[in-house]
This record gives sequence, C-alpha cells and structure tokens, in this order.
Amino acid sequence: MSDNLQLNPEGKLKHFLTIEGLNKSLLQEILDTAESFIGINDQQIKKVPLLRGKTIVNLFFENSTRTRTTFELAAKRLSADVLSMSISTSSTSKGESLLDTIRNLEAMFVDMFVVRHAISGAAHFIAQHTAPHISVINAGDGQHAHPTQAMLDMFTIRQIKKDFSRLRVAIIGDILHSRVARSEIQALNMLGVAEVRVIAPKTLLPAHVESLGVTVSHNLTEGLADIDVIIMLRLQKERMSSALLPSESEYFKCFGLTEDTLKNAKPDAIVMHPGPINRGVEIDSKVADGPQSVILKQVSNGIAIRMAIMAMAMQKQGSL
Ligand code: CP
Repeated sequence: MSDNLQLNPEGKLKHFLTIEGLNKSLLQEILDTAESFIGINDQQIKKVPLLRGKTIVNLFFENSTRTRTTFELAAKRLSADVLSMSISTSSTSKGESLLDTIRNLEAMFVDMFVVRHAISGAAHFIAQHTAPHISVINAGDGQHAHPTQAMLDMFTIRQIKKDFSRLRVAIIGDILHSRVARSEIQALNMLGVAEVRVIAPKTLLPAHVESLGVTVSHNLTEGLADIDVIIMLRLQKERMSSALLPSESEYFKCFGLTEDTLKNAKPDAIVMHPGPINRGVEIDSKVADGPQSVILKQVSNGIAIRMAIMAMAMQKQGSL
C-alpha cells in the first residue's frame, strides 16, 4: 500500500497513512516538529493557535484508549475544533456505508479525519475518496499500519538513546497480527538502526518475515543479547482465527519479559510497549512498572507527535 497519495507535489505531508513510501528526512522533520511542541505540556495554558478555525473529526470504528485520547488532546492543544464520533451510537449501526458517513461529515466543512478501523486499508480508502482539501490520518487499520504509534515510539527512542545508527532493537511477541510491528520495522529501518530483531514463536511470525528487513530469533534469552531497545507486543487474540499457542501461561514461560529475562539485554536497555499491556501474559508487572520501562513516557509523547503530524498535514498547499 505504498503510494504518494500521502505527499503533495512539493513532497509535503498531505495524508499520514503508512510509513511505507515516506523518507528519512520527512520522519526526522516529524520528530523535530514534535520536539518543538513538547514544552507546551508544561505551559500554564497548554495551547497554540496553529489549527484555529480548523475542524477535525475522530472516527474510531474500533476501540482505543491511548490513540483516541491523545489525538483529541493534540487537536485541542493546536486550537482546532474537535469532534470525536461515537461509532456505536452513529448511523453506521443502521447500515450507513463508510463512504456515506464520510460524505455527510464532509458536508459539515470538515478539514481532517483521524480514522481507526478494523479493516486494513480503510484510512487509505477514505483518503482516495474524500474531498481534496481534507487530510486523513491513519490511527490504526487492521493488521496493516499504525504509523503515529511508530512515530511516537521513534520519538521516545531518540529522546533517550539520541542516535539511531548504533541501536539494536528487539520486537517481541505477536508480530503476525501486529500493525504496530509493521510500522515500527519500516520506521526503524528508514531511520537507520543497526538491527531490528524479531523474537517470537514461529506461529506468530508472518511468512518470509526476513524480507521486512529484520533478523529472527525464536529464543528470548538468546535473542535479547546486545539489545538496546525492547518493544513488547501483546497477543492480539481478536485477530487470531485459530489457536496458535498451547496456552497463555506456556507463552509467558517462553516469551514473557521478566526481571530475569531482561538481564539478557544490555544493562541500559529500555522497555517499550504500545499498550494495552497484558500483565503476566507478555510482560511481568515488575518490568512494566520497573526502572527500565518507558511505557508511560510513550503515552505522553503521543500528544506531541500527533500535534506534529496534524500540523504538518494542514500545512499542505499553504492551507495554514
Ligand atoms: N497503542 C494503541 O494503539 O493503544 P489504543 O488501542 O488504546 O489506542
């Protein structure tokens, strides 16, 4: 799903649908723009007027805690008018098509849609069919992509580790069903890390996973050697059509991150997780809440990254 629908003829961001097809300098521009917004969190009045007069609609067709709230906070901090649609109480439940919902919202002079959908490609589909002045931001589509999560994770890694070029990053768990993993692998490789390693049982890896630009380990203890950054993933049971594991407790024994298994990584390794975390399934509470965990820092950074992406997308064709 790589195409330049995301960029205007000047190479500036118009939509933000996937990391694929973007480039290193654009990712760095997003990180630098987010850096300029970080201080707003500490101001007495947490607002800048960049998107004053713009209308942003959050369309979440799938559940969310972190992404939905940080998008809403980010839009409010940019002074936009924000509408968070509750899909369960909208006319979607009466059989209205996605495109008809979009057409009706367009008729209300909307400037941006933030879309989460269980179907891969939904945000891309909306971007193809919406009016040319409207930007679409992908807040997670099926198993395909979660590019704003990847960017807030890149921001958190850069904040702590500074230089991507020497880093070995391990992504551990259910890679097969993870839109986060796909976007993370693309962003980490684009930013030039030394290695992206996936650690998982064979049943939780896509076929030909090496072609994504990763090395592979099926053993947590061995796989954590020399690792600087650990990204844990939950088992995405809602996307599993058959039993891929003997049991959750067996999975935790082999692939759960505990204080003991964490010792196999570098002593200053950081532990990340996009959330929601399942304690005792992929990660022990002592690690999730421990000194190497940056899980809540990731959540905080989600606001500045989403502010950056929304502001940059609205700059297209001089619309700011
Ligand atoms: N990381 C993430 O997408 O979390 P939510 O599903 O709560 O938005």
